[in-house]
Amino acid sequence: MNLEEARERIARLREEIERHNYLYYVLDAPEISDEAFDRLVQELARLEERFPELVTPDSPTQRVGGRPREGFVTVRHRVPMLSLANVFSAGEVADFGRRVHAALAEADVDYVVELKIDGLAVSLLYRNGVFVQGATRGDGETGEDVTANLRTIRSIPLRLRETVPGLLEVRGEVFMPKEAFVRLNERREEAGEPVFANPRNAAAGSLRQLDPRVTAERKLDIFIWGIGHHDGPIPDKHSLILAWLKDLGHRVNEHVRPCADLDEALAYCATWERRRFELPYAIDGLVLKVDALEQQERLGATLKSPRWAVAYKFPAEQAETTVQKIIVRVGRTGVLTPTAVFDPVRLAGTTVTRASLHNEEIIRERDIRIGDRVVVQKAGEVIPEVVRSLPEKRTGNETPFVMPEACPVCGTEVERTPGEVAVRCPNVACPARLRENLLHFASRGAMDINGVGPALVDQFLKRELVRDPAGLYALQEADLAGLERMGAKSAANVLSAIRESKERPLARLIFGLGIRHVGERAARILAEEFGSMQRLMEADEGTLTAIPEIGPKIAASVVQFFRRPANRRVIARLAEAGVRMEQTGPAEVRDGPLAGQTFVLTGGLQKYSRQEATELIEALGGRVSSSVSKNTDYVVAGENPGSKYEKAVKLGVRILREEEFERLIAHA
Ligand code: IVH
Repeated sequence: MNLEEARERIARLREEIERHNYLYYVLDAPEISDEAFDRLVQELARLEERFPELVTPDSPTQRVGGRPREGFVTVRHRVPMLSLANVFSAGEVADFGRRVHAALAEADVDYVVELKIDGLAVSLLYRNGVFVQGATRGDGETGEDVTANLRTIRSIPLRLRETVPGLLEVRGEVFMPKEAFVRLNERREEAGEPVFANPRNAAAGSLRQLDPRVTAERKLDIFIWGIGHHDGPIPDKHSLILAWLKDLGHRVNEHVRPCADLDEALAYCATWERRRFELPYAIDGLVLKVDALEQQERLGATLKSPRWAVAYKFPAEQAETTVQKIIVRVGRTGVLTPTAVFDPVRLAGTTVTRASLHNEEIIRERDIRIGDRVVVQKAGEVIPEVVRSLPEKRTGNETPFVMPEACPVCGTEVERTPGEVAVRCPNVACPARLRENLLHFASRGAMDINGVGPALVDQFLKRELVRDPAGLYALQEADLAGLERMGAKSAANVLSAIRESKERPLARLIFGLGIRHVGERAARILAEEFGSMQRLMEADEGTLTAIPEIGPKIAASVVQFFRRPANRRVIARLAEAGVRMEQTGPAEVRDGPLAGQTFVLTGGLQKYSRQEATELIEALGGRVSSSVSKNTDYVVAGENPGSKYEKAVKLGVRILREEEFERLIAHA
C-alpha cells in the first residue's frame, strides 16, 4: 500500500469508527459487534504505525495517547461559565415563571425541561469541527485544561460529523454512571484507599488526574447541555440547538421536554422526582430553561446566573434508623471493613439494612455508636451510607465501636500500615481471604469455572478440601461425593469445568490470582508483554514500570506478590496441575529460528516499515514488544532512535543497526 492509498483507507476507517462510536455512544443503537469494531480500530492503528506522518490528533487512536502531565494549565473561558439559581418547590418555580413573564412583557413563553446531571461542568472547544481544547469550569472565569483526559471519553467526538467553520464551544456535564461508581468504590475499599462520597466527586477526581491513562479506566461519560461561544450561526431555540448538537455527534440526554407552559414543566419535574432512581446515572434535580434565544437574551443574566433558567433541586433522600450492631467483614485483600447493621428503612426505591462504614476513622469522625439513631442515605443514589448520628437522641445505652485487634475470622493479629486508614489481616491463608480469593479465581472474568460459587466454596473450606486456588485442581470425585446437594452428575460437571479452565489464556490466570491493583486490563497487558508466567515472575519494578500503562503501584504490587514463597508455591502447583502458563494467541511462543526471542524496534529503518519488520520477525518465530526491558533480546535501532535506544544502552540489551538486523534475518 502506498502513501496515497493509506491516506484514503485511513480516512475511510476514521469515518467508519466515528460513525460507529456515534451509533453506540450517542444513539445507543450499535450496528456492529464489539469485535468487529475493535478490528476496525486495530486496522487503523496498524496503518498509522506504518505511516506515522498520517497520524492526526483527532484520530480515534489518539484517545489514550497522552502521557502524564506536570500539572494543569489554566484556561480563560471566552464566555464565563455561570451557575444556576436553585429553587426547591413548585411555588418557587411559579415565582420564576412570574419573573420571566413580567420581564418579557408577553404571555407566550415556551420552556424546555432537562435533567440536571450530577457531575461537573466542562467546556469543549472545536476549531473547524476538530476538538482542540477541553476545560473544567473552575471558578467560572478560568478552568483547567483537561484536554488529554477528556479525549479518553468515548462519547466526546474528536471531530464533528459536519465541519462547523470557526470556533464552536459546547458545554456539558461529565459524570460517572452509577454502576461504574459502585465498582470503583468496591475496588478502592479492597485496596484500602479512601472511597468517593458520590459519583460527582468520583467524576471530578477522575477528570483531574494528571495521568490520562487513569482517567481512561474510570468509565466517564458526558451529556452536552449547551453552547458557550460560536463563530457561525446557530439555531434560534435551545431545544433546536440540542438537536443540532446531537446531529453533530454530541451526546445529548434523551429526556428533554419542550413545554408550552409552566404547568406542563412542573408535571414533567414531578415525573422525574418519582422516577429518578431508575436512571443509570445520578441527577440532583431538573433544569427549566426559556426556549427562545431571543427571549433569553432579553432576560440576560446576573453576575452569577442567567435569568432565563432555574434549577429545581430535589431534596436529598434520607431516612432515620437505629444501628443494631457493627460487624466486621474481611475482604479478599485482607482489609477489615466495619459495616453498620440497622433496622430496615426504605431509601431511593429499595429497603436497606446495612451500610459499609469503610474504616475506623469515619466512624470516629461521624461519632457513630452501636444503638445510635442515625441518618442514612444512598451515596449517588446507590450505595447506602450512614451520614451522621443523632447524639441528641441518645439514651446512654449506646456503645462506641472498637476495631478488633485480631481478625474476626482467623484470629491473626491485625496490621496497620502507616499512612493508611485500612486495617488488614496479614494471614494470606485466612479463610475469609481464601473464600474471596477462590471466588475471584473462579469468577467469569478470571478462570470462569462454572459451578464454583459461594455455596460450594463454603463447603470446600469447611471440610478443608481446598487451601488455595491450586487446590481446586486436586479435587477428586470422592471429595465432592459427600457434599450437600451434590449428585454424581453435578460432581462430574464441576470437575470437568475445573479441568477445562486449565486452558484459559494467561491473562485470565494473572487476573485470577488477585494481585492487588491488577485488574483485567493490567493482566492482559502483562500477559502480552511477558508471554509467560515465568517471565512475569522474574520481572523487577523497573522492567514493569517501563511498560506503557503499568504504573509504579501495579509494579510494586506484582513484585511483592511474587516475592512471597506461599504465592510461588501456588503457581508451581498450578503449573504441575497443567494450568496454562504461557500466552496463547498471536504472541504465542512459536516455532522458528527466532522462537523465544523478543525484539523492540526504534527509529526509522531504510528498507522496511515497522509493520514489515514486525511481520518478518514474527514469521521467523520471534516476538515484537513495544518497550525495552531486561527481557528484551534485541533492540533494532534505525534512524533517529528514541528513548528506547537509551534504555537499551542502560540495560545492556544488544542493539542491532539495520545491516546487522538484516544479517541476523538472513542467517536465521
Ligand atoms: S444549563 C448558565 N443544563 O448544573 C449555566 N446545567 O448548578 C447553564 N448542569 O453549572 C447551565 N445538568 O454544571 C444546565 N441540563 C443541564 C445541566 C446543568 C447539570 C449543571 C451545570 C451547571 C450547574 C448549575
